[in-house]
Amino acid sequence: MYHIPELNELSEALEASPQNQTLRYLLVKKLYNFSEYKEQFEHHIQILLKQAPNHYQAKDLLMKHYFQQQKLSACIILGEELMEAQNLSQEGYLILAKSYMKEGNSEKARDIYQEAIILDPDLTDEELDNAFRVGAFEEFDFDDEMDDGTMEKPNINFSDVGGLEDVKREIDLKIIKPLAHADLYAQYGKKVGGGILLYGPPGCGKTYLSKATAGQIDAKFINVGLNDILDMWLGSSEQKLHNFFSLARRNTPCVLFFDEIDALGAKRSDMRQSAGKTVINQFLSELDGVETSNEGILIIGATNCPWHLDPAFRRPGRFDRIIFVPPPDTKGKEEILKILLKNKPTDQIDYLKVAKKTKDYSGADLEALIDIAIEKKLEKAIETGVPEPLRTADLLQAIDSHKPSTVDWFTTAKNYAMFANQSGLYDDILSYLNK
Ligand SMILES: Nc1ncnc2c1ncn2[C@@H]1O[C@H](COP(=O)(O)OP(=O)(O)O)[C@@H](O)[C@H]1O
Ligand SMILES: [Mg+2]
Repeated sequence: MYHIPELNELSEALEASPQNQTLRYLLVKKLYNFSEYKEQFEHHIQILLKQAPNHYQAKDLLMKHYFQQQKLSACIILGEELMEAQNLSQEGYLILAKSYMKEGNSEKARDIYQEAIILDPDLTDEELDNAFRVGAFEEFDFDDEMDDGTMEKPNINFSDVGGLEDVKREIDLKIIKPLAHADLYAQYGKKVGGGILLYGPPGCGKTYLSKATAGQIDAKFINVGLNDILDMWLGSSEQKLHNFFSLARRNTPCVLFFDEIDALGAKRSDMRQSAGKTVINQFLSELDGVETSNEGILIIGATNCPWHLDPAFRRPGRFDRIIFVPPPDTKGKEEILKILLKNKPTDQIDYLKVAKKTKDYSGADLEALIDIAIEKKLEKAIETGVPEPLRTADLLQAIDSHKPSTVDWFTTAKNYAMFANQSGLYDDILSYLNK
C-alpha cells in the first residue's frame, strides 16, 4: 500500500479498530507530510472529523492542507471557525492572514495578523511584515491626527464637580501643589513627578474630575484613550504613545490623562484587549521621563478595573498615588443635581429628597435620570402646547425607570478587596462598603 512501513502499520492497526481517533490522527499527521498521499490524507481526516467534530488540531492541520492546495475559501472558513473557538494555532493565524491576502482582502489580512501579534508579540513573518509592518509608519502622519480633538482648554474647574471633597483635596495636595511650587519641593529634596491613578465604579466622575483639574490650574487637557492607541497598527502604538508625551511636553502646563489605563496591563486571559510588552515598556519609560523630563505635566490615569493593572505601574515615580473615586454621597448628589440642572427650567426642586431616593446612583446615573424626566416633560409639552418646568415629582418618578449602575461594580470590587488586597490597596473600597 504505502511505501513507508510505518504508514502501513498504522493503517493496519486502524483497520482493526476504526473508532480509535488517536490512531487516526497519528496517521493523518504522518500522511500530511507526503504530497503523494494527499487523497488518503483527505479521506482519513474526513472520517476523523466526522467522529470528532471538535478535533481542533485536526482542523488546524486540514486548514494548512487547504492552504497548500490553494483552496483558499475552505481554508478561510476553517480558520475563522477555529479563531472563533479560540483554538487557532499561531501558524494558523499566519495562514489565515495569508489566505485573506491572496484573496485580495488585505484589510482583513492585516487585522488577523495584528491580532496574532497581540497574542504573541514576538511573532514575525517575513511575507506579512513586508506587506504591513514597514509601510505603516510612512502612511501615518501622527501629529496631524492628534492636535485637534485630543487637546483642549477645559472650561470647568473643581466648582463644577459635585461632592468628592476628599478626592479634590488629594489631587490638590499631591499634584497641583507640587507643580505650582516645584522650586520649594526641590529645595527640600522632595521629588516631583509621577502620576495619580483614579479608580472606582463607572460614571462617578474620574474623567470629568481630571478635566476639571486642568481647568482648576488653567492648564491644557490631553485625553488619551488607550483603547484607541492599541487599535493602531503594529509598532505605531509605541510611536503614537510617544507622540502624546511629546505633545504634552510642548504644551505645559497640562494634564495628560490616560483613560482605560487597564487596557495596557490587562492579564493574558484577555490579551485580545491588551497591549504587547513593547507598548507597556514604552509607556513606563515615558512615564519615568527617562529621555526627557515630564516637568509641568500632571499625569492622571483612570480605570474601572485597577486589579488588572500590572504592579509595575505602581512603583514609586509612576502611579504611586492611588485614589478611590466613590459614588457620590447624599450631599454630593445634591450638588451634582444642582450642577446638572443649572441651566434648565425647574421649579423648587427638593434636591435633598431626590438625593436620598437615588441610592447607589453615580453622577452619570443622575444625568440619565434628568434626561428621562425631561423627555417625559417634552412629550407632554408637545401634547398640550404648554411647556412646564421640571419638578421634584418628575425626578422621583423617573427613578423607577433607571437602575443604578454602581452595584455590579461593587460586587466585583468586593472580591478583590477581600481576597487580593495586597498591601491594603483596596482598603478604601472596604471602608466605603462598611459605611
Ligand atoms: N461629581 C460629579 N459632579 C458633576 N458631574 C458629574 C460628577 N460625576 C459624574 N458626573 C457626570 O457624569 C458624567 C460621567 O462621568 P465620568 O467622569 O465620565 O465618569 P467616569 O470617568 O468615572 O466613568 C460626567 O460627564 C458628568 O456630567
Ligand atoms: Mg471615564
